[in-house]
Amino acid sequence: MDLMKTIEERRSVKNYHQHEISREILTSLLDKAALSPSAWNLQQWKVMVVDTDEAKEKLYQAANKQIKIKDASATFIILGDLNAHDAIDNIADDWIKHGHLPQENRDGLIKSVNNFFEDDMNKRDEAVRGASLFAMNLMLISQDAGYATCPMIGFDKALVKEAFDIPDNLVPTMLITIGKGQVNNDRASRYPASTFAKFV
Ligand SMILES: Cc1cc2nc3c(=O)[nH]c(=O)nc-3n(C[C@H](O)[C@H](O)[C@H](O)COP(=O)(O)O)c2cc1C
Repeated sequence: MDLMKTIEERRSVKNYHQHEISREILTSLLDKAALSPSAWNLQQWKVMVVDTDEAKEKLYQAANKQIKIKDASATFIILGDLNAHDAIDNIADDWIKHGHLPQENRDGLIKSVNNFFEDDMNKRDEAVRGASLFAMNLMLISQDAGYATCPMIGFDKALVKEAFDIPDNLVPTMLITIGKGQVNNDRASRYPASTFAKFV
């Protein structure tokens, strides 16, 4: 993988042609994206993979009738789990097993994590942050595997939750189409670092 080439070649692709991607391939892309970092390794991401005609129709209706949902091979509904810290006991044990945490610090870590997530803003921030880091990696991994993607927030959260029976602890963070397709325009310009970064 030439990372810079992959970053340069990734575009938000809106036009897809008929192409089937197997569930095995989609699963392997998701497994790779799960190498993403997350606060305390909580791995807040959850994903619904929309790849049947019936599910595509439901998502299309809930997502401003964006035609790419029907044309793409599949669309990932990327969700952030507000309750991912409920697994902190297991995560702490995994850290101990892998030499990241001394046994005597286990209870202290669990206490401070639970304390942190008493704040609803922290819960939401980490759910969306974790899911977003995962989403970006998923787009780059898909690009590297020869697939086009498009991230989307053009959807009605309540309708998506209702259509796919998504519980309240899962925040719909973005949709990502995946398939074979192309863009017909140049990349729009980006602000240079000199305008958004400050050395302090
Ligand atoms: C969070 C997010 C939401 C977006 N939502 C939509 C969308 O709903 N529909 C769409 O066609 N493109 C959407 N885009 C794509 C952007 O328009 C695109 O990333 C941007 O214009 C830059 O183009 P590029 O990705 O090809 O470099 C979204 C992108 C991001 C990151």
